[in-house]
Amino acid sequence: MAPETTPLPAARPIARSADATGVDESRAPLLEVRNLRKHFPIKGGFLQRTVGLVKAVDDVSFKVFDGEILSLVGESGCGKTTTARCVIRAIDPTSGEVLFRRADGDVVDVAKLRDKQLRPIWRDMQMIFQDPFGSLNPRKNLLDIIGEPMFVQGVRSRQKRMDRVAELLNLVGLRPEYMHRYPHAFSGGQRQRIVIARALTLEPRLVIADEAVSALDVSVQAQILNLLLDLQRRLELSYLFVAHDLSIVKHISHRVAVMYVGKVVELARTDALFTRPKHPYTSALLAAVPVPDPDQRAALQGLPGEVANPAAPPPGCYFHPRCPFAVEVCKHEPPPLREVEPDHFVACHRAEELTLDGIGELESALRPRPDVPGATPEAPPPAPPDVPTPPSREVPS
Ligand SMILES: Nc1ncnc2c1ncn2[C@@H]1O[C@H](COP(=O)(O)OP(=O)(O)OP(=O)(O)O)[C@@H](O)[C@H]1O
Ligand code: SF4
Ligand SMILES: [Mg+2]
Repeated sequence: MAPETTPLPAARPIARSADATGVDESRAPLLEVRNLRKHFPIKGGFLQRTVGLVKAVDDVSFKVFDGEILSLVGESGCGKTTTARCVIRAIDPTSGEVLFRRADGDVVDVAKLRDKQLRPIWRDMQMIFQDPFGSLNPRKNLLDIIGEPMFVQGVRSRQKRMDRVAELLNLVGLRPEYMHRYPHAFSGGQRQRIVIARALTLEPRLVIADEAVSALDVSVQAQILNLLLDLQRRLELSYLFVAHDLSIVKHISHRVAVMYVGKVVELARTDALFTRPKHPYTSALLAAVPVPDPDQRAALQGLPGEVANPAAPPPGCYFHPRCPFAVEVCKHEPPPLREVEPDHFVACHRAEELTLDGIGELESALRPRPDVPGATPEAPPPAPPDVPTPPSREVPS
């Protein structure tokens, strides 16, 4: 009997002048975000005039290198999704630069491109959204869903699209013959595999994953994370990984940027950030990472006060009303993001003098972890009796 799932194809060797994590920092970054801002107007009054601004993203800068996974973390509303959407130009930034190195080596500022010029960039940059149920059209089969980006990019041959879709289903651990099925025939984890396959259709170099596993059960999360890691290694992908769950982030990231009210407050290599955080907010977030013993760690409720309102943030350091280490200067002077140790950037006036709690030794998936399930694809559900066999048709433009 034919196996239900297909094994992942053999890995392609990756050429890297890399450090132990496999990230090549010797070349120009694949993505460099400089001083990115996105301010949403608040309308009010009879004439709907602009009466204020939600500073969702406020002077954010970071780089993503070839083969790197950079995670953006922070509490709900801190601006992670808005940053990601500006990077891929789903929305227009208010100001700042989004410098992307194209395959030919030229660097373009995605923030300044006109609509027509964005299409080739979207071959190179793809986004995976949070909700594997909402992001798949229930009326289209997998051939149409996964093949659609090819159609949009001008591939009119149905056979070519079928071949590519078969290849992609194989790559994400699903059987090629599933291409004629519809999304309802699949479990949540399998749908996320489909979403990932669609994102890979055009062979992107940068994948932006916004809470890509948040909606999934914990066991399925591990499988999808391992699939993402496996694909990253095989296809030499870079990820901008947006998440609020630090236990996931620590598992997969090379570097982590912590956001608070639209700003990056700490950016460092994963092990440094988790074991030796230098910003009190990072330390508080780490204290809230769930551990098996619920008595061991206080949750974020331990922090006084609420997250600042991005429409009316406090003066000085936005974190000062909640910070147990705040001093006078914190109330007036916004701390700039500074490199306080090599590759360790912190926006805190007291970064050098504070010794903050992190968490213990890291077990990272960037080193092989035989104990974690996931390289093995999830078993597919049996074919439902009502799987429709649709007539052959083209994807509508
Ligand atoms: N279109 C919009 N108009 C006005 N404000 C917006 C808009 N989109 C986002 N915001 C605001 O910008 C801020 C950042 O939102 P964003 O969705 O980027 O946060 P997030 O970090 O992704 O949060 P979550 O973890 O909940 O997904 C929030 O205060 C949000 O209310
Ligand atoms: S700048 Fe001051 S208030 Fe802000 S995190 Fe540092 S110590 Fe706390
Ligand atoms: Mg979000």
